[in-house]
Amino acid sequence: MKETSIKILRAVLDVGERALEKLPGADWITFRGYRFESERIPAAFDGFRFVVLADVHARLFGTKNARLIRAIRNCRPEIILCAGDWIRTDYSGHDAAILRELVTDIREIAPLYSILGNHEGRADHKDELIRDFTDLGVRILQDESIQIDREGSKDRLLLTGLYPSYENSFYGSLRESGIGPRIREEYRNVMRELPEERPFQIVLSHRPELFELYTELGMDLVFSGHAHGGLLKLPGGRRLLAPDQGLLPTYTHGAYQKERTTMVVSQGLGGPRIGIRPEIIVCELKRKEQ
Ligand SMILES: [Fe+2]
Repeated sequence: MKETSIKILRAVLDVGERALEKLPGADWITFRGYRFESERIPAAFDGFRFVVLADVHARLFGTKNARLIRAIRNCRPEIILCAGDWIRTDYSGHDAAILRELVTDIREIAPLYSILGNHEGRADHKDELIRDFTDLGVRILQDESIQIDREGSKDRLLLTGLYPSYENSFYGSLRESGIGPRIREEYRNVMRELPEERPFQIVLSHRPELFELYTELGMDLVFSGHAHGGLLKLPGGRRLLAPDQGLLPTYTHGAYQKERTTMVVSQGLGGPRIGIRPEIIVCELKRKEQ
């Protein structure tokens, strides 16, 4: 009975979301650019450019997503990252076809690395998504780290993808009792596996509300999504609402910095939003000489 009511709620939210996407200007893609300068960035990665996507939610930008593909290609990225939430409700039917076509086209531009988000966590066909995406050449990172070189360079960057094992319920939330310590321990374990003297680290982690934890664990550069830009802009620039942050959320868009950690929150491309533009993040790394 509970499962049925959740499915009905999902269907209602879907219809509402699709209606909002039809509002004038709602599908204009904007670019938000960042340059990160650090002496921890290896010399071989000076000028390294990449794109970050988030919260695609199987949205369409023109026929076969041609406008989205053109927008990504125009950024001339060396790699493309995604901070999770590819699907709306499940990986099936029309949405699965949209996503297969999209990742096929993205992979023709550059290597694609992705984590999963809370929407994948609750999906019935999550395993099929992982299988199809992997077959199409997407590297899905689930609580693991890999090293990235640049044209065979000796210097490497570390790319970590976090995907908490609790992401299996519709309302997986930090507010749920017992979740906080579990995430903390899980992410701490992922970081423990890294060498003490680790290279500059890029982290994909869907949830921006965990910023304090990312800082505590000493991550360098974290990309997240999940907030969809806070649903609606209020007078004065604050945003109205974000999942798992509630009213007047803190982490909705832009960059947040504390100690050695910078977290960039993408407004994402899809998901419910009113007057908040779909967004692609374009980044360039710059080696800071010591
Ligand atoms: Fe999302």
